[in-house]
Amino acid sequence: MDLHSSTTIRIACAPGLAPLLEAEVRLLGCPVTAVDDTGLNTNGTLIDAMRLNLHLRTAFYVLYLIDEFPCETPEDLYRHVSFIEWENWLPADGYLSIISRTDTPAINNWTYATMKAKDAIVDRMAEKSGRRPDSGPERDRFVINLYWRKDRCWVYLNTSGQKLSDRSYRRIPHKAPMQEALAAGVILSTGYDGSMPLVNPMCGSGTLAIEAALIATNRAPGLLRGNFGFMHTLGFDAGIWEQLRAEARKQRSKSPPAPIIATDIDEAALQAARKNAMTAGVEHLIQFERCDFADTPLPPSPGMVILNPEYGERMGQVDELQGTYRRIGDFFKQRCPGWTGYVFTGNMDLAKKIGLKASRRTPFFNAKIECRLLKYELYEGSRRKDEGGRMKDE
Ligand SMILES: C[S@@+](CC[C@H](N)C(=O)[O-])C[C@H]1O[C@@H](n2cnc3c(N)ncnc32)[C@H](O)[C@@H]1O
Repeated sequence: MDLHSSTTIRIACAPGLAPLLEAEVRLLGCPVTAVDDTGLNTNGTLIDAMRLNLHLRTAFYVLYLIDEFPCETPEDLYRHVSFIEWENWLPADGYLSIISRTDTPAINNWTYATMKAKDAIVDRMAEKSGRRPDSGPERDRFVINLYWRKDRCWVYLNTSGQKLSDRSYRRIPHKAPMQEALAAGVILSTGYDGSMPLVNPMCGSGTLAIEAALIATNRAPGLLRGNFGFMHTLGFDAGIWEQLRAEARKQRSKSPPAPIIATDIDEAALQAARKNAMTAGVEHLIQFERCDFADTPLPPSPGMVILNPEYGERMGQVDELQGTYRRIGDFFKQRCPGWTGYVFTGNMDLAKKIGLKASRRTPFFNAKIECRLLKYELYEGSRRKDEGGRMKDE
């Protein structure tokens, strides 16, 4: 394995996050050669892949292309995969996991592709090193990603292993937590840089506030994690990795950001949020308080206030939440003039109850649910009002 050999690097992300991921990748000085719904392609070495793993906030996986080939049958797959010099990548006593995605008439079952590729790798390893590596579903060691589309197949080293969105600070998720990469994407999409206050009522397990604190202080999220897929390859250079980590540590900003305030009505949520912030090393940057969202303390404006209320899956819940969303509108109007308000929700009917006109609606996906980040410019007296005194949502 050559750390300095350049190839295609595919970076996968959740649907909706690709434009934010592209901005992150460009900011790190990497070229972007293709972008689609669930990721992008760049070029680089394994060292570039390590750096991307360390810094990216909105990515799932950083995938380093090992080989691609024409593939029409499972036998083609076995043959081509067994040509790859796995003995130069995978330790003989290593543990192997394969993630397959197939979109080909050649097979109707991705598990069969996984089995064929796994057989090809362990058979070759047995022949070359006299030992068959263990394999299974755990993603915490040597991971291969296989994409078989139509009559072509791509084999990647998954340099991340477990998803990068699992930052490992959130030991206590509480209810309906937002995935860390999504929370980072939501914060990045607002242009937040820590120079103005950020207030997060209904903070739940604190993901939005914690990601904001990491962004505001330019902390690389990968510094929080001790295990990546690339660490389980032959030739992994711990010295280079430590150098990359030291550079990332140097880039952290020394000056504290403008106040970050996170509140929730539920004591258990706040306890989880505090512990998670502590694990992420940012608890000193966030002021936590237990209160109804409408009583959240606000520093002097301007700044941003961002809420992620529940959006209800059962009818009864939705009825109850209508009042909450109406109260969010009142909170914005009565307490937040001069602020920029944001609401992240997966229920547009409920969002209408806020009764204010959103100036921007950015689409995101929370797992499979299509969501919107709604932006409200909250200045006094400049909006048309309906008869009930509420501003119109058109
Ligand atoms: C969808 S969760 C937020 C999840 C959060 N973004 C996370 O990543 O963990 C909504 C939160 O709103 C809180 N909540 C509900 N009603 C509230 C109210 N009236 N005042 C303050 N918090 C409230 C709940 O306790 C819950 O923690």
